[in-house]
Amino acid sequence: MNFRSDNVTGAAPEILAALMAANEGTAASYGADAISTRLKQRFSEIFEREVAVFPVATGTAANALAIAAVTPPWGVVYCHGESHIQVDECGAPEFFTGGAKLMPLECADGKITPAAVEAVLVEPGIVHSAQPASISISQVTEAGTVYTPDEIAALGALAKRRGLALHMDGARFANAVVALNASPADLTWRAGVDLLSFGATKNGALAAEAIIVFDPARLGDLAYRRKRAGHLFSKMRFLSVQLEAYLEGGLWLRNARHANRMAARLAEGLAATRGAKLLYPVQANEIFIALPEAVIAALEAAGVGFYRWGAPGEGSLRLVTAFSTRAEDVDATIAIARGTAR
Ligand SMILES: Cc1ncc(COP(=O)(O)O)c(C=O)c1O
Repeated sequence: MNFRSDNVTGAAPEILAALMAANEGTAASYGADAISTRLKQRFSEIFEREVAVFPVATGTAANALAIAAVTPPWGVVYCHGESHIQVDECGAPEFFTGGAKLMPLECADGKITPAAVEAVLVEPGIVHSAQPASISISQVTEAGTVYTPDEIAALGALAKRRGLALHMDGARFANAVVALNASPADLTWRAGVDLLSFGATKNGALAAEAIIVFDPARLGDLAYRRKRAGHLFSKMRFLSVQLEAYLEGGLWLRNARHANRMAARLAEGLAATRGAKLLYPVQANEIFIALPEAVIAALEAAGVGFYRWGAPGEGSLRLVTAFSTRAEDVDATIAIARGTAR
């Protein structure tokens, strides 16, 4: 029973099978293979427009390279104070942009608002200030919530008005798509998103993410940036085939739907424990909850995996479900928390 993260899982069998099949014979290198070519077509169908696709191996690379494509060294990236780019990427966005400034915003429920951006947005052209360049949002957010299409569109409109690029960290994009029952296009370019870090690793891939560029004007020199960052894999077919299998037959949505259902089930059960308090609405596959110390101790003693969250002694936890989470493990965890486990 391990709810530490959605990357403690293995890979989906369908993706492993596709990798084995792609292992047959030889293929052109550095993304010139047939699978990589098909992948661009497949993503273009899913997003209902022609897109550029850059597979990479980690979410950090996807974020840092996408942001670097639209942010000069003297630029500002407006983001949430708890965002992965701000808290968990060891300065990679700053490194790959050549020193751009991340401007963390403290907003409720993991979601930045146009008003919060506008409050700190400076006029461009003043030589003393870092120059407004981009907004980066996470979908699903680091609080486990999701931006609605309207909320994204409001940020998209602001970005357009002020000449900023809008980037989306979609490490859990599939979970957001199924949570909102919205089209990938409505959640991205139709709402003004220019670049998306499309996640797959957390939801069934072995190690594969893709930078999706919707606006050709935002393509910049991404091809060179990816090569320079060491993410132009010579055997690119193995990254591309993971993404192809992930999309095939809606596997990405099926996996995410399961993860979200397991989170809803776990959240409902834990929230009914005496003294429990959900810290954020549970909208996808992450649960943030405060529990009495005795309950936490019981869960720990039973070997249930989770992270303690927030300030020490606060009793706040993060639990994450995944495509492979078993309902019986969810139910057993709830039973332990309620003290009814046998
Ligand atoms: C919101 C978010 N973005 C991006 C990532 C990707 O990180 P990694 O570089 O570990 O693949 C993660 C993983 O934890 C994440 O939670």
